[in-house]
Amino acid sequence: MKALKAVIATKNKGKLKELQRLLADLGLEIESLERFQDKVGHIVEDGSTFFENAMKKAKTVAEKTGLMAIADDSGLEVDALSGRPGIFSARYAGENASDEENYLKLLDELKDVPETKRGAQFRCVIVAYMPDGRYVSAEGICRGMITTAPIGSHGFGYDPVFVPEGDSRTMAQLSREEKNKISHRGKALKNLKAKIKDLIS
Ligand code: IMP
Repeated sequence: MKALKAVIATKNKGKLKELQRLLADLGLEIESLERFQDKVGHIVEDGSTFFENAMKKAKTVAEKTGLMAIADDSGLEVDALSGRPGIFSARYAGENASDEENYLKLLDELKDVPETKRGAQFRCVIVAYMPDGRYVSAEGICRGMITTAPIGSHGFGYDPVFVPEGDSRTMAQLSREEKNKISHRGKALKNLKAKIKDLIS
Protein backbone atom coordinates (compact mmCIF):
# COMPACT_ATOMS: atom_id res chain seq x y z
CA MET A 1 0.00 0.00 0.00
CA LYS A 2 1.29 3.49 -0.85
CA ALA A 3 2.10 5.65 2.19
CA LEU A 4 -0.10 8.70 2.73
CA LYS A 5 1.85 11.90 2.18
CA ALA A 6 1.68 14.85 4.55
CA VAL A 7 3.27 18.28 4.19
CA ILE A 8 4.59 19.98 7.31
CA ALA A 9 3.66 23.64 6.84
CA THR A 10 6.79 25.21 8.32
CA LYS A 11 9.99 26.70 6.92
CA ASN A 12 11.74 26.11 10.24
CA LYS A 13 14.12 23.14 9.77
CA GLY A 14 14.26 22.43 13.51
CA LYS A 15 10.47 22.17 13.73
CA LEU A 16 10.33 20.01 10.60
CA LYS A 17 12.81 17.52 12.08
CA GLU A 18 11.02 17.51 15.45
CA LEU A 19 7.64 16.86 13.81
CA GLN A 20 9.10 14.21 11.48
CA ARG A 21 10.54 12.34 14.45
CA LEU A 22 7.37 12.57 16.52
CA LEU A 23 5.11 11.51 13.64
CA ALA A 24 7.39 8.70 12.38
CA ASP A 25 5.30 5.78 13.64
CA LEU A 26 2.08 6.96 11.94
CA GLY A 27 3.40 5.62 8.61
CA LEU A 28 3.03 9.00 6.91
CA GLU A 29 5.49 10.06 4.25
CA ILE A 30 6.50 13.55 5.41
CA GLU A 31 7.28 16.22 2.83
CA SER A 32 8.76 19.62 3.58
CA LEU A 33 7.03 22.85 2.54
CA GLU A 34 10.13 23.90 0.56
CA ARG A 35 9.23 21.45 -2.23
CA PHE A 36 5.90 23.22 -2.75
CA GLN A 37 6.97 26.81 -2.19
CA ASP A 38 6.08 27.89 -5.77
CA LYS A 39 2.55 26.54 -5.43
CA VAL A 40 1.92 27.79 -1.89
CA GLY A 41 3.60 31.24 -1.79
CA HIS A 42 3.68 33.40 1.34
CA ILE A 43 0.95 32.85 3.94
CA VAL A 44 0.17 35.90 6.10
CA GLU A 45 -0.47 34.93 9.73
CA ASP A 46 -3.22 37.45 10.46
CA GLY A 47 -5.47 35.41 12.73
CA SER A 48 -6.37 36.60 16.22
CA THR A 49 -5.72 33.22 17.91
CA PHE A 50 -3.12 30.45 17.66
CA PHE A 51 -5.86 28.19 16.24
CA GLU A 52 -6.81 30.64 13.48
CA ASN A 53 -3.18 30.98 12.38
CA ALA A 54 -2.48 27.23 12.45
CA MET A 55 -5.76 26.57 10.61
CA LYS A 56 -5.01 29.14 7.90
CA LYS A 57 -1.56 27.64 7.26
CA ALA A 58 -2.76 24.01 7.22
CA LYS A 59 -5.86 24.72 5.07
CA THR A 60 -3.94 26.83 2.53
CA VAL A 61 -1.16 24.26 2.14
CA ALA A 62 -3.61 21.33 1.85
CA GLU A 63 -5.69 23.14 -0.77
CA LYS A 64 -2.67 24.23 -2.81
CA THR A 65 -0.80 20.90 -2.71
CA GLY A 66 -3.68 18.42 -2.64
CA LEU A 67 -1.97 16.68 0.30
CA MET A 68 -2.68 16.44 4.01
CA ALA A 69 -1.02 19.43 5.72
CA ILE A 70 0.09 19.84 9.33
CA ALA A 71 0.70 23.33 10.76
CA ASP A 72 1.30 24.73 14.22
CA ASP A 73 1.29 28.12 15.86
CA SER A 74 2.73 28.84 19.27
CA GLY A 75 3.85 31.54 21.66
CA LEU A 76 4.38 32.68 25.21
CA GLU A 77 1.51 33.93 27.43
CA VAL A 78 2.61 35.88 30.51
CA ASP A 79 0.17 36.12 33.45
CA ALA A 80 1.29 39.60 34.59
CA LEU A 81 0.79 40.90 31.02
CA SER A 82 -2.73 39.43 30.64
CA GLY A 83 -1.48 36.80 28.19
CA ARG A 84 0.83 38.97 26.09
CA PRO A 85 2.88 38.57 23.92
CA GLY A 86 0.75 35.55 22.80
CA ILE A 87 0.35 35.40 19.02
CA PHE A 88 2.80 38.32 18.73
CA SER A 89 5.65 36.44 20.47
CA ALA A 90 7.94 36.30 17.41
CA ARG A 91 7.70 40.06 16.81
CA TYR A 92 7.25 41.35 20.35
CA ALA A 93 10.14 43.85 20.14
CA GLY A 94 9.43 44.75 16.50
CA GLU A 95 8.82 43.24 13.05
CA ASN A 96 12.30 41.71 12.57
CA ALA A 97 13.28 41.47 16.23
CA SER A 98 15.81 38.81 17.30
CA ASP A 99 15.03 36.27 20.02
CA GLU A 100 17.34 38.20 22.35
CA GLU A 101 15.60 41.54 21.69
CA ASN A 102 12.24 39.91 22.39
CA TYR A 103 13.18 38.33 25.72
CA LEU A 104 15.11 41.40 26.88
CA LYS A 105 11.99 43.49 26.25
CA LEU A 106 9.99 40.99 28.29
CA LEU A 107 12.47 41.04 31.19
CA ASP A 108 12.36 44.83 31.16
CA GLU A 109 8.54 44.90 31.24
CA LEU A 110 8.60 42.50 34.19
CA LYS A 111 11.41 44.20 36.12
CA ASP A 112 9.12 45.29 38.97
CA VAL A 113 7.08 42.07 39.08
CA PRO A 114 7.91 39.88 42.13
CA GLU A 115 8.80 36.19 41.80
CA THR A 116 5.38 35.00 42.95
CA LYS A 117 3.68 36.86 40.07
CA ARG A 118 6.02 35.81 37.24
CA GLY A 119 3.90 32.85 36.05
CA ALA A 120 3.66 32.18 32.30
CA GLN A 121 2.93 29.44 29.79
CA PHE A 122 3.90 28.38 26.33
CA ARG A 123 0.90 27.38 24.23
CA CYS A 124 0.90 25.46 20.95
CA VAL A 125 -2.00 24.61 18.65
CA ILE A 126 -1.54 22.12 15.80
CA VAL A 127 -3.96 21.46 12.94
CA ALA A 128 -3.89 18.56 10.47
CA TYR A 129 -6.02 19.39 7.43
CA MET A 130 -7.06 16.99 4.62
CA PRO A 131 -7.60 18.22 1.04
CA ASP A 132 -11.24 17.02 1.33
CA GLY A 133 -11.88 19.57 4.12
CA ARG A 134 -11.74 17.25 7.13
CA TYR A 135 -9.39 18.35 9.90
CA VAL A 136 -8.33 17.65 13.48
CA SER A 137 -6.63 19.97 15.97
CA ALA A 138 -4.91 19.69 19.34
CA GLU A 139 -3.40 21.97 21.95
CA GLY A 140 -0.50 21.70 24.37
CA ILE A 141 0.43 23.95 27.30
CA CYS A 142 3.65 24.12 29.29
CA ARG A 143 3.44 26.18 32.52
CA GLY A 144 6.37 27.81 34.21
CA MET A 145 7.78 31.15 35.26
CA ILE A 146 9.90 33.96 33.84
CA THR A 147 13.42 34.44 35.23
CA THR A 148 15.02 37.83 35.92
CA ALA A 149 18.00 37.14 33.62
CA PRO A 150 18.65 34.85 30.64
CA ILE A 151 20.37 31.49 31.34
CA GLY A 152 21.34 28.68 28.92
CA SER A 153 22.13 28.34 25.23
CA HIS A 154 19.90 25.54 23.86
CA GLY A 155 16.55 25.90 22.13
CA PHE A 156 15.27 29.18 20.72
CA GLY A 157 12.91 32.08 21.39
CA TYR A 158 12.12 32.69 25.05
CA ASP A 159 13.76 29.44 26.26
CA PRO A 160 16.57 31.25 28.22
CA VAL A 161 14.05 33.16 30.38
CA PHE A 162 11.48 30.38 31.01
CA VAL A 163 11.72 27.84 33.84
CA PRO A 164 9.20 25.01 33.34
CA GLU A 165 7.16 23.86 36.33
CA GLY A 166 8.86 21.10 38.31
CA ASP A 167 12.37 22.12 37.25
CA SER A 168 14.88 24.72 38.39
CA ARG A 169 16.62 25.03 35.02
CA THR A 170 15.48 27.19 32.12
CA MET A 171 14.24 25.58 28.90
CA ALA A 172 17.54 26.68 27.34
CA GLN A 173 19.43 24.44 29.80
CA LEU A 174 17.44 21.30 28.90
CA SER A 175 18.50 18.80 26.24
CA ARG A 176 16.25 18.51 23.19
CA GLU A 177 14.84 15.21 24.49
CA GLU A 178 14.08 16.72 27.91
CA LYS A 179 12.36 19.70 26.28
CA ASN A 180 10.30 17.58 23.87
CA LYS A 181 8.90 15.54 26.77
CA ILE A 182 7.44 18.53 28.58
CA SER A 183 7.05 21.17 25.88
CA HIS A 184 3.79 22.64 24.62
CA ARG A 185 4.67 21.40 21.10
CA GLY A 186 5.48 17.87 22.30
CA LYS A 187 2.19 17.69 24.22
CA ALA A 188 0.11 19.11 21.35
CA LEU A 189 1.64 16.62 18.93
CA LYS A 190 1.01 13.70 21.24
CA ASN A 191 -2.65 14.71 21.43
CA LEU A 192 -2.84 15.23 17.69
CA LYS A 193 -1.34 11.86 16.81
CA ALA A 194 -4.23 9.85 18.20
CA LYS A 195 -6.66 12.07 16.28
CA ILE A 196 -4.71 11.76 13.00
CA LYS A 197 -4.85 7.97 13.37
CA ASP A 198 -8.67 8.19 13.40
CA LEU A 199 -8.66 10.67 10.51
CA ILE A 200 -6.61 8.47 8.18
CA SER A 201 -7.92 5.04 9.20
P1 IMP B 1 5.86 30.10 15.85
O1 IMP B 1 4.89 29.09 16.31
O2 IMP B 1 7.05 29.49 15.17
O3 IMP B 1 5.22 31.20 15.06
O4 IMP B 1 6.48 30.73 17.19
C1 IMP B 1 6.18 32.01 17.63
C2 IMP B 1 7.16 32.50 18.65
O5 IMP B 1 6.81 31.98 19.93
C3 IMP B 1 8.61 32.09 18.43
O6 IMP B 1 9.28 32.95 17.56
C4 IMP B 1 9.14 32.21 19.85
O7 IMP B 1 9.43 33.55 20.14
C5 IMP B 1 7.96 31.76 20.70
N1 IMP B 1 8.05 30.32 20.98
C6 IMP B 1 7.25 29.35 20.50
N2 IMP B 1 7.64 28.13 20.96
C7 IMP B 1 8.73 28.36 21.73
C8 IMP B 1 9.60 27.49 22.47
O8 IMP B 1 9.49 26.26 22.49
N3 IMP B 1 10.59 28.11 23.14
C9 IMP B 1 10.78 29.46 23.14
N4 IMP B 1 10.02 30.29 22.45
C10 IMP B 1 8.98 29.76 21.75
